[in-house]
Amino acid sequence: MIEDMLRTPAAVQDAERHTAHNYHPLPVVISSAEGAWVTDVDGRRYLDCLAGYSALNFGHRHPALIAAAHAQLDKLTLTSRAFIHDQFADFCRELAALCGKDLVLPMNTGAEAVETGIKVARKWGYQVKGVPAGQATIVVADGNFHGRTTTIVSFSTDDDARADFGPYTPGFKIVPYGDLTALADAVDETTVAVLLEPIQGEQGVVVPPTGYLPGVRQLCTERNVLFIADEIQSGLGRTGATFACELEGVVPDMYLLGKALGGGIVPVSAVAADTDVLGVLRPGQHGSTFGGNPLACAVATEVVRLLATGEFQRRSTELGERLHAGLHALIGKGLVAVRGRGLWAGLDIDPALMSGREACERLMERGVLAKDTHGSTIRLAPPLTITAEEIDHAVAQLAAVLAG
Ligand SMILES: Cc1ncc(COP(=O)(O)O)c(C=O)c1O
Repeated sequence: MIEDMLRTPAAVQDAERHTAHNYHPLPVVISSAEGAWVTDVDGRRYLDCLAGYSALNFGHRHPALIAAAHAQLDKLTLTSRAFIHDQFADFCRELAALCGKDLVLPMNTGAEAVETGIKVARKWGYQVKGVPAGQATIVVADGNFHGRTTTIVSFSTDDDARADFGPYTPGFKIVPYGDLTALADAVDETTVAVLLEPIQGEQGVVVPPTGYLPGVRQLCTERNVLFIADEIQSGLGRTGATFACELEGVVPDMYLLGKALGGGIVPVSAVAADTDVLGVLRPGQHGSTFGGNPLACAVATEVVRLLATGEFQRRSTELGERLHAGLHALIGKGLVAVRGRGLWAGLDIDPALMSGREACERLMERGVLAKDTHGSTIRLAPPLTITAEEIDHAVAQLAAVLAG
C-alpha cells in the first residue's frame, strides 16, 4: 500500500515520543518551505494559511531576510548586552522611527515583551505617577492572550492556560473586551496601565466595536494611565496597517511587538515607547542575554525596512478584501460568522457540521494548513506575500470542506 511507504506516520510518532504534549499539532511533518508554501517529508505541498501565527508575515525564507541572516552569520552572532555591537543602533533607531517612538527595548519572545511592558508600567506608576509602593494595578481584557509566563497566565480567562499554575501574580483587573464603561469603572488612582490586544487573535480574531480603541486612548490620557497595545500578533502589516491601532487612528503609549519582527528566522521581540516611559529603566533593572543580539538585529532591521516600503501593508489591505469577500460568501454555507481585518480572519464553523479541528484536518488533506481555536473557530493568517490566486485556492478548498 502507498500509505505504508509514507514517512509521515513514523515521523509523527517519533516527534511525539520524546516531547511534552503541550501542543496538539496537525499530523504534518514539514521539511522545507518557500514563500507561502511548505513541503512535507513525503513531498506533499501545502499552502500555509497560518504563517506561524503571523511570525511569517513575509513568507518562508524571504530572500532579503535570508540574505541578512546569512551575511550576519558570517560576521558576528552574539555579544550579550555587556558590549555594544554594530547592528544594534540601526535596529533600535529604525524600529523606533517605524513606531514613532523615542526608544526601543529588544527582547526575544512575545511573552518577554509583555513582561517588560508590565515591569516598565509598574515602575512608571511608582516613579512618575506616584502610585503608593506595591499597589500598582493593570487593567486587562476578558479573552486576552498575552503569553504563557506565570504572571501573564495569572490574568488569563482561559481555564486551560491558567488552571493549576497558581499561586497567581496579583495586580491585574479583568474587564469585558470592548466595554468602555466597564473599563472606565475599573480604572482608579492605582491604575498604571491598560493592556490590550487591538484585535484579539487567539480568542478568534475578535475585532472590538468601532470607537473602542479611541475611547481607551482618551480614557488613558484623561486618567494618566499608560495604554499598552499588544501588537505581537496584530502588528507589522497583518491587518493592512503597520499597527492595528492605526486602523482606528490610535497611538498607544507603548507597543509590544514580536512574531513577524524576527522575519520567521529568529525570535525577536521589542517594546517601543517614549523616553518618559521607557526611560524609567536603569542598568541592572531588566535585560536578557539574547535580547538584541547581532543576528536578531540584522534580520529585524531588514524586517523594519521591508515594512517601511508600505508594500506589505498594501498587499494585506487589497488581498484582505478578496479573502474576506470569499469567506463572507460562505456564510450560510457552513460558516456562521467571519471576522478580521486585512489578511487575518477568524471563521466560526457551524458546530453542527464539524469542529474547527476537523475542518483543519480536512483542509490539510486538501493541501491547506490552518489552525483551530476555541472549538469551532478557525484562524487564517497567510503570509502577506500570498497571491490572489492562492487566496482563491484556499477559499475554494474551504468551501469544499464545508460542503462535505
Ligand atoms: C497577542 C499576543 N501576545 C503575546 C504572545 C506571546 O508570544 P510568544 O509566544 O512569542 O511568547 C502571543 C502569541 O501568540 C500573542 O498572540
